[in-house]
Amino acid sequence: RTETLGTEMEVAGVPLQAATVDNWSQIQNFEAKPDDLLICTYPKSGTTWIQEIVDMIEQDGDEVRCQRSIIQHRHPFIEWARPPQPSGVDRANAMPSPRTLRTHLSTALLPTSFWENHCKFLYVARNAKDCMVSYYHFQRMNQVLPEPGTWEEYFETFVNGKVAWGSWFDHVTGWWDVRDRHQVLFLFYEDIKRNPKQEIRKVMQFMGKDLGEAVLDKIVRETSFEKMKENPMTNRSTVPKSLMDQSISSFMRKGTVGDWKNHFTVAQNERFEKIYREKMQGSSIRFCAEL
Ligand code: PPS
Repeated sequence: RTETLGTEMEVAGVPLQAATVDNWSQIQNFEAKPDDLLICTYPKSGTTWIQEIVDMIEQDGDEVRCQRSIIQHRHPFIEWARPPQPSGVDRANAMPSPRTLRTHLSTALLPTSFWENHCKFLYVARNAKDCMVSYYHFQRMNQVLPEPGTWEEYFETFVNGKVAWGSWFDHVTGWWDVRDRHQVLFLFYEDIKRNPKQEIRKVMQFMGKDLGEAVLDKIVRETSFEKMKENPMTNRSTVPKSLMDQSISSFMRKGTVGDWKNHFTVAQNERFEKIYREKMQGSSIRFCAEL
């Protein structure tokens, strides 16, 4: 691989991709607008899924209009940078309002204009174990992130927060803590999986829309894992193999809850549970009980 994520590439202790760090002043000075909606996630938590849900709501359930471009371009990714292509900030600046944007940044690193303008934030959290598994397979196939090493090695890297965008624990608890002070709709991947219609209705209401039951049912169908896996506008099939080698692992890999059980050894699970209790002890956030 030609590019690696050097741990020296950090902002406030959070490892980020080199081009993002190089572009940091543009990112920090980004000017949010009061009617921006920001989709916020830790990587591999269902970003693409919630993006498609939001876009289907924005397009009043018209799936053909959601085919207008690849999903990466519909909602500019604030910290994305790959010169000479336009950066995420450039794309956002060129977009008419009202804008829907997306980020993996933690609350600590978010450009302050989002807070100052009282923007709406749509956060999706996914349980840490499944996130780790999904991120591991993503790093195997993503050619611009470091090789993940063995699963045992990756386990250590992940729990120590030495992955791009930093610690899952800090990210999730940070966004959970601001949810009452700001306009945050805080959703869980596991809830969307279990009851998509109910969760999509919450998103619709948060966006100030009222589309009716038939359209909601259609959005549930069109944003299913099976549909999105086949959809070239959502499945990253247009991304060159030099960036994402989907012969190693698909971007739309499994889309399930609990795949960690196929990866964690009993010893790893015990160690993880201990670390989890320590790191999460000050937080009231709870993931669903079946995990
Ligand atoms: S990224 O690269 O951070 O933007 O990835 P992200 O989109 O956040 O997460 C990818 C994981 O989400 C799964 N996914 C879905 N699950 C259920 N339903 C739908 N519609 C859906 N779309 C994407 C995707 O398969 C990745 O999870 P894993 O566990 O690896 O399959």
